[in-house]
Amino acid sequence: MHKGITSKLNMKKVYRVKIAIIACFVATALIGGSSSLAQKAQVETAGQKFKSIKVLNDMPADQMGKVMNMMSASLGVDCKFCHASNDADYEKDGNENKETARKMIKMVFDLNKTQFNGRPEINCFTCHHGISHPQPSFPLTAAAAPIPRPVQPEKKPVIDEILAKYETALGGKANIAKVTSRQIKANRIEPDGKTTEPETIWSKGNKYRSDLAYGTYIVRELSDGTAGRKFGNADAIELKPDEAEQIKREGEILSVTSLKTIYPRLEYRSIERIDGKEVYFVIGTTAGNVRERLYFEVATGLLVRRAVSTPTVFGGFVYQVDYADYKDFGGVKMPTTMKYAVPHIQWIRKITEVKNGGVDDAVFAAPAKK
Ligand code: HEC
Ligand code: HEC
Repeated sequence: MHKGITSKLNMKKVYRVKIAIIACFVATALIGGSSSLAQKAQVETAGQKFKSIKVLNDMPADQMGKVMNMMSASLGVDCKFCHASNDADYEKDGNENKETARKMIKMVFDLNKTQFNGRPEINCFTCHHGISHPQPSFPLTAAAAPIPRPVQPEKKPVIDEILAKYETALGGKANIAKVTSRQIKANRIEPDGKTTEPETIWSKGNKYRSDLAYGTYIVRELSDGTAGRKFGNADAIELKPDEAEQIKREGEILSVTSLKTIYPRLEYRSIERIDGKEVYFVIGTTAGNVRERLYFEVATGLLVRRAVSTPTVFGGFVYQVDYADYKDFGGVKMPTTMKYAVPHIQWIRKITEVKNGGVDDAVFAAPAKK
């Protein structure tokens, strides 16, 4: 499957950047594949699943893609810094950096085990900070004073008030109730900041479909409100539970239903700051017990960030979405810039057109085999 995609895209040089991007996603999807059978009595380990494992033996195989993304992000490098290329031969040994990385992984595990009671406090980023070869250094000037935390209100804001403010900011209950479906056109800006692909999105209740076109190769995401699915043309792409969950969430968030239906439990935590603006920090817990961090701008009431963290041997793998540039479409506002970020990969969705209503249920079908 993964080879199929790359060879198709290889036909044109302009797709080179995309190959790397898709490779990362597909690698993640492939790597997670078989473990989506959560009922399996025993969790498959990386040692059992992969071919050339010497230090990550006991890690759940499911975490491989995330951990590789986290290592790449920590060092500010691509997969090929340690592997033969960005999309192949991961099991091959002989690369000096791969060998060094093995020593470093072992060092990190030992430190966390002996010094931090097994908690993943130290990771590659602790020392590397986005550079592959850290140099010993000491500060020669006093560190700048940290920006003080926002003043916390004496009376804790009430969740219902935060949600009501959000609903009003979007356009109000009556207007929201009128939007029963949406057809959206967007462009995805890839991590290189230049390459874009056209995307068409359909949303109706909790149903969701996105078609992202890499030339003639269409990546379709679908959700019927219970679980997300993904296809590359007509072929199903296996997803890890957290990936399926996020596709489902995308549909839920777009459908402008009350956030309470998505997160039956919502707890106010504190006032924080994002890009200089004060935000209410709220923890939302879904019926399936997934905890997400939600941030509402104090001044406007709008949702500006959502983040969720999936545990790995190096600590939480964060998936974050920033919502910006809210615009009015038929009485209901919607963010027209959505910035997505996971370690090592960032992409942007720019909404260009929104049409309310007129979406037929038939569009939410899986792609047909040709
Ligand atoms: C800093 C070095 C480094 C970077 C960057 C890196 N890897 Fe790795 N990778 C390793 C090491 C080391 C192993 C073997 C781990 C072990 O021996 O337990 C490995 C193993 C793997 C494996 C298992 C292969 C097998 O069958 O044995 C896959 C798949 C993989 N990496 C994918 C990736 C992808 C995809 C990326 C880019 C997102 C990436 N790696 C980036 C160091 C790296
Ligand atoms: C305690 C600090 C620390 C931690 C944690 C750490 N590293 Fe390093 N790493 C270093 C230093 C310092 C160097 C440079 C060593 C030298 O000059 O020989 C280095 C070098 C490397 C190199 C060789 C790069 C080059 O250009 O020579 C790789 C690869 C590497 N680290 C991978 C990792 C990975 C992957 C992790 C996380 C699993 C990690 N490191 C965690 C401190 C650290």
